[in-house]
Amino acid sequence: DKANYRHFMAKEIHEQPEVVGHTLARYVDMATERVTLPVKLPFDFKDIQRVSITACGTASYAGFIGRYWLERFARLPVELDVASEFRYREAPLRKGDLAIFISQSGETADTLAALRYAKAQGAHTLSVVNVPTSTIARESEIVLQTVAGPEIGVASTKAFTCQLMVLASLAVAAGRARGELSDADEAKLVHGLVEIPRLMSEALTIEPQIEKLARELSKSRDVLYLGRGTSYPLALEGALKLKEISYIHAEGYAAGELKHGPIALIDEHMPVVVIAPYDKVFEKTVSNMQEVAARGGKIILMTDAKGAAEATIQSLVTIVMPDMGAAFAPIVYAVPVQLLAYHTAVVMGTDVDQPRNLAKSVTVE
Ligand code: F6R
Repeated sequence: DKANYRHFMAKEIHEQPEVVGHTLARYVDMATERVTLPVKLPFDFKDIQRVSITACGTASYAGFIGRYWLERFARLPVELDVASEFRYREAPLRKGDLAIFISQSGETADTLAALRYAKAQGAHTLSVVNVPTSTIARESEIVLQTVAGPEIGVASTKAFTCQLMVLASLAVAAGRARGELSDADEAKLVHGLVEIPRLMSEALTIEPQIEKLARELSKSRDVLYLGRGTSYPLALEGALKLKEISYIHAEGYAAGELKHGPIALIDEHMPVVVIAPYDKVFEKTVSNMQEVAARGGKIILMTDAKGAAEATIQSLVTIVMPDMGAAFAPIVYAVPVQLLAYHTAVVMGTDVDQPRNLAKSVTVE
């Protein structure tokens, strides 16, 4: 049931601090500040030479962020593909490679086919799934469950952030096993993970501001989302969320790609959502924002207090997020991104929980 919420999607967005916390509790030992996977892996991360990550839609964007973490913390090369491409492109996996699949439902036809392909190639198969009795869970060698609880809204929200929590934990565990992270590094990262539920609760308090902003956004025909680093896949997710529930055309781009084409679209009618926590690449993103502002583009900047102080651009709106370490920012920044899509759809009067033409579980290709 929807509790006191108007839509399942709103309820599920608000449940995130709790279910991300449950997921965290399954993967992290708070007392020792270490990541402890709930299953014993049938391989040593030291022996893994390559990882592939495969999923569809929102789950693939979780995988995209997971790739940054696995590469950074564990120095593991990661290939990433959407399942509909992976299953037919004849990717040369080697025996002993690690193939990761991400799926809320565990029934997505393309992801399941990709899993079977990887298995046939002799790869280790590890799935991040929300439904433990699902086909993908049953057919995988290793299952890491997201503890999001049932997700009813067609647009994935809490499953996405729980997938990120699992992938972050996995990347830290891999970094430890490969000797890329010290005890102190791990403790610092785990500390960052433990903070996330509280930071998500704080981010939810920004809702009234986002609701107001959504009234503006609902007047647009097109919206551009920009981000760098781990904010780039989140920009893709933001654009997907907006288009699937509000039917406003949106695109996500790597901020650095702006001048390679999409900048031609910028004018006063094109709002640009910039996701930019104050991190190593912040200054670069600011210069991309300057390019947008110089062409009359309206900017919606999602950043923290430091970022807001540094970005001296006249932006339409700045959404000031709580201060946090940069490593896991996308888990927290997912909240305003989801809220913006949700409230825009509510203003548009669409069927938020059951958007047209979409199914919760895509069991045909
Ligand atoms: C978007 C959305 C879809 C799913 C995709 C994969 O909000 O929900 O893009 O993420 O269909 O579904 P699962 O995770 O069930 O494999």
